[in-house]
Amino acid sequence: MAVLSLATMQPTSHLEDSMTDSGMPTTGQEMSLSPPTAIYDGPRLRMQGISKSFGAVRALNNVDFEVYAGEVVGLVGDNGAGKSTLIKAISGVGPCDEGEIFLEGQPVKITNPQIATRLGIETVYQDLALCDNLDVVSNLFLGREENTPFGTLNEMAMERRGLEVLHTLDVKLPSVRAIVSTLSGGQRQSIAVAKAILRKAKVVLLDEPTAALGVAQTRQVLQLIRRLREQGLAVVVISHNLADVFEVVDRVIVMRLGRRVATFDTASTTPEQVVAAITGAEFGTILQTDGANGNGAIEGNKL
Ligand SMILES: Nc1ncnc2c1ncn2[C@@H]1O[C@H](COP(=O)(O)OP(=O)(O)OP(=O)(O)O)[C@@H](O)[C@H]1O
Ligand SMILES: [Mg+2]
Repeated sequence: MAVLSLATMQPTSHLEDSMTDSGMPTTGQEMSLSPPTAIYDGPRLRMQGISKSFGAVRALNNVDFEVYAGEVVGLVGDNGAGKSTLIKAISGVGPCDEGEIFLEGQPVKITNPQIATRLGIETVYQDLALCDNLDVVSNLFLGREENTPFGTLNEMAMERRGLEVLHTLDVKLPSVRAIVSTLSGGQRQSIAVAKAILRKAKVVLLDEPTAALGVAQTRQVLQLIRRLREQGLAVVVISHNLADVFEVVDRVIVMRLGRRVATFDTASTTPEQVVAAITGAEFGTILQTDGANGNGAIEGNKL
């Protein structure tokens, strides 16, 4: 897999003073820094040296992270490892204290969730922010409704577009006019993901998407994740369920005590290896991270 082309070529530090409201650098700066003919093949999203503390607790300690377009990365680790904190740093819910974030090679400052949305970064939580009393279409277009030339809601257009996206994702629902409270957990999860697609997301973050789901619903959500990958999105999935992880994920990034301690290609890894990295069992008590160092690699002390 190609690694860090433009992202590492660009001088970034002086750009940070010139971010626009959207979190992106100003156009003039962008023009002067991006080689116009180069095709960017680095990570869609890259984080470098991310640290975050809550009082005395160092929840993230110099973490590097990267996910490519058309890739599903599994973010795993024990309770309190720092997974949600890392996701919150990307989604703008809990910006990091230190470190840099690059979207398609360009440095971005994600200081609130609105900026993340504008940049095409969508987060889907297990406790979904759907409105139970509204139907599927209303939920899909909440906050970005389409209007007719007369200023009324264009229900037909929204329904058509909603159906199109749900069909692309192969989501099965009784009706797009069904009230969301009547749907199953898996169906609700699917609607939240479809919403992300409708917002033209580039990166989708899923925090424990199958934790509360039954077998059939879990299958549906895993299938959905595959569809997101097929559509070229960069997908990050937090999960405690290694069976799910191995079924759908291309790469696993393991966190422990606020550090990234290992990276694995799922195709050439066993769940036991991942469990060992999660617990630190085989690798002594102190693991260090130096960020990504290739696939199937334990980052730190090789005992
Ligand atoms: N808002 C907060 N205030 C104080 N400490 C926090 C806060 N959020 C997280 N932490 C601490 O940061 C560390 C990492 O927490 P985080 O929620 O990122 O873990 P996690 O890997 O998502 O765990 P889990 O698998 O249990 O969801 C923990 O020690 C946690 O107690
Ligand atoms: Mg968590």
